[in-house]
Parts: sequence; structure tokens; C-alpha cells
Amino acid sequence: MTEPTPTKIDMDKLVSLCQRRGFIFPSSEIYGGLSSCWDYGPLGVELKRNIKQAWWQAVVQQRDDMAGLDASILMHPQIWAASGHLEGFSDPLVECKNCHLRWRADELKGNTCPSCGGELTEPRQFNLMFKTFMGPVEEEASVVYLRPETAQGMFVNFLNVLDTTRKKLPFGIAQIGKSFRNEITTGNFIFRSREFEQMEIEFFVKPGTDKEWFDYWLDERLNWYVKLGIKKDNLKLRQHMKKELAHYALDCYDIEYLFPMGWSELEGIANRGDFDLTQHAKYSGKNMDYFDEETKEHFIPYIIEPSAGVDRSALAFLCDAYAEEPDKEEIRVLLHLHPTLAPYKAAVLPLSRRENLVAAARKVHADLRQCWMVSYDDAQSIGRRYRRQDEIGTPFCITIDFQSLEDEQVTIRDRDSMNQIRVPIDTLKTTLAAKLSGEELFVLPPGGKIWLEEKKG
Ligand code: GAP
Repeated sequence: MTEPTPTKIDMDKLVSLCQRRGFIFPSSEIYGGLSSCWDYGPLGVELKRNIKQAWWQAVVQQRDDMAGLDASILMHPQIWAASGHLEGFSDPLVECKNCHLRWRADELKGNTCPSCGGELTEPRQFNLMFKTFMGPVEEEASVVYLRPETAQGMFVNFLNVLDTTRKKLPFGIAQIGKSFRNEITTGNFIFRSREFEQMEIEFFVKPGTDKEWFDYWLDERLNWYVKLGIKKDNLKLRQHMKKELAHYALDCYDIEYLFPMGWSELEGIANRGDFDLTQHAKYSGKNMDYFDEETKEHFIPYIIEPSAGVDRSALAFLCDAYAEEPDKEEIRVLLHLHPTLAPYKAAVLPLSRRENLVAAARKVHADLRQCWMVSYDDAQSIGRRYRRQDEIGTPFCITIDFQSLEDEQVTIRDRDSMNQIRVPIDTLKTTLAAKLSGEELFVLPPGGKIWLEEKKG
């Protein structure tokens, strides 16, 4: 099978759209920015919230075998000794003897500095954890770390969750939260940064059933992206080679996405065996066994870990949604975001700023925003306003025109097809709900007058 050619999306165009329209800004911009740190603007924060909400719904809300958690970012330093992060969470670092830029040795193509061609130092291991001090005294005894993954919070709360939820194996714990890594090389926009968010699942299973659950989660997670609109051809699974496997993993696959810079990891799914609970039992002195009441056996569960990045998911959803389409003499830029992820579900647009139109539109807006994030825009021509909403991925525009004042009906314009239908205002909420949940344009509540406009735009 031939692999699809890399996507044509230009990262620079996406970065520019994100900044121009308020999705993502460089952090601390007025001070010149802070390398590899990003701020999510008014639209970015909605996109991110929607991604997290969709994930939580799929893996916690809609399942019996999962429980949520929100563990502290700062944790007991011994956790990082037990997990292997203190000793092994490092990358090989080399420094240019001439310009002093630092590089990851394993990512370099040659053995000279990519910036100035200078000679490089021998690689040394550089620990990626951010270190700080707890309390007022900066001494070795008060060192704590910003967590480099959310996972450990779930391992160390295994017994708490088990006791309080009375769950039986197999079951999982899910968590969304910030993680920090002092990456040597960052870049590709929000793909790799030093502060990022993860959505992680630790799924505890009986040893011997782990392979089956591993396959199950590969499938589940891959489908989650597809259901939310990512094209199948832009996703693939890649198994880690033996030498690539992390110290804790028996097996691992990456879900890769065809980002503008090529195929890269979007999510990792690992079979962590009994490594984590065994280590924490050893370091904490607590018995981390599970007692199976049916078979009367005691054992340490195996763990299947689907670990996704919120920021990387946001980047993949944005890349996949970005499109430029010819439209008359112009190019229409749009984000085909899935309605679940779109920052605004709809925009209310009065045809003009005439007082009576604005009043009617404001009323519709006030009503709809009880249920969804809905934008209101009355500046410039209706065509320009449609384009503005297309560019930020708003699936539906609701236009209030002079006819609306007489017949109490409004027009709904579909972002992707640009088709329009006309519906009574009193069925607008149910129509929009149906359309947002993916129902066909033609399935309308009784009484809704439907017409498809020939003219687009
Ligand atoms: N607990 C396992 C773990 O953390 P990982 O492969 O190191 O595994 C999981 O990270 C996911 O977290 C990655 O697939 C990616 O989506 C995200 N991630 C990791 N490092 C990141 C970084 N520096 N910037 C943005 N996202 C990152």
C-alpha cells in the first residue's frame, strides 16, 4: 500500500490564522515572547475545552469502567525515583563549541552544529524535569519537580480510587492536566513545548488479558480521532521497535498524524505491564496488590496506557480542518472543524444594523447562547461576515433579514456546503441541536419550511 503524500497545509499559514483570529498567541508577546510557550486566545481556549470535553465524555462519562481524577502537579519526590524519571528521563545533549547552541544528539543528521557548522561537545544526558523548591528554603531536602506526565498521579491513587469507587478489574482512571518537560529542542508551533496538557488513561487489567485490552484501546483511540473528523488517511499506527521502547513498556504503538512536517506522534499507547504498581509498592512500602474475589488470587494488575496530548490534538484537528477553496474570483479559507470541536457552534448575523433587525437578532442570540457558544456579528457585509465565520470554523450562520420580521423565520447557512435552509424561529433551537449532532440538513422538526438555495455565499 502506498502512503499518502504529506498534507499540503502550510504550517506558517495555520500559525498566522491562529494568531490573527485569536486561537493561539506566543506567550508573553509584549516582552518578546517566551520560547516554546503559547497562550490560547478566546477561540483557542474554546477549541481546547471542546477537545477535553469530547475526550472526557468518551472515556469517562459514557463508560462504567472508568473513573476520573485530578491529581496535584507537585508530588512527593520519591515518586520520580520510583518511576525511573530521576534516573532515566533524559535526552542526549550536545553543545556547539563555537556558538554554544544546544541540540539533541539523537535528532542531528550530521556531527557538526546545524546552525554554524561548529564542532560539538560529547553528548551528556540532560534530565528533562523542571526542578523547584517547596517552601522558603532552597535546599536539597526541599526539591520538588513539576510533573513531566500526569500518569504517576493515577498510579499512586490506584488504591484510593479502588477503595472509594468499589470498581473491579478491568477498570481505568482518566486524567487531564498540565505537564512540564524542559525539552532541549521544541518547535513546530504547539507540537512540542515545555508546558503542555495531557489526557491520559491508566487502564488496570488482569495479567494475561493485557494484549486483548491493548488492541481494544488502540482501536478505541484511533476511532476517537476519526469520529471527530480527522481523515483516516492522515492517521496511522506505528509500533515501537524494541530499542525504542521506554524502560517500563512491554509494547507500545504511536498513533501518528501526518502533520505539515511529516508523520509524527499524536498519542502513545503502551502496555506498561506491572512496572508502575510494583515500583510504587517497593518505594512506598504499601501493598499495591489487587484481590480478585472470584478466583481468590492476589496480583499486581497490568496497565494499558493511552496517553494523548491536548495541544497536539488541537494542532492535528486544526491542520486537518484547514482548507482553501476557490470561490468565485476569490479563495475561501475555512476550518472544517467538527461541530463538537468548533469554538462557536453558530453565529447570529442581522442582515443590516437597522434597529428592528438588531433587536430581533439580539433576541435570537440571547436565546441560543443559553445552550451553546454563539457569536454575534453585525459589522460589514453579510458576505464578509460569512467568510469570517468560515475561517474560524463556525458550522452554522443564522441570518435575520427583513422577511424574518414578518414571517418569524430565519436562514441557516451551512459552513461546508454553503447551502441555506429557512426555519421558524421557534424551531431554531431544536433544528440547531439536530444539525450539531450530525443530522442531515433535511431532517427538521415538523413545521420547518425547508428550501435549499441555489445561490451560494
Ligand atoms: N505517560 C506516558 C507519556 O507521557 P509520552 O509519549 O511521553 O508518554 C504522551 O507523552 C503524549 O503527550 C504525546 O503523545 C504527546 O501528545 C504529548 N506530549 C509529550 N511531550 C510533549 C511536548 N513536549 N509538547 C506537547 N505535547 C507533548
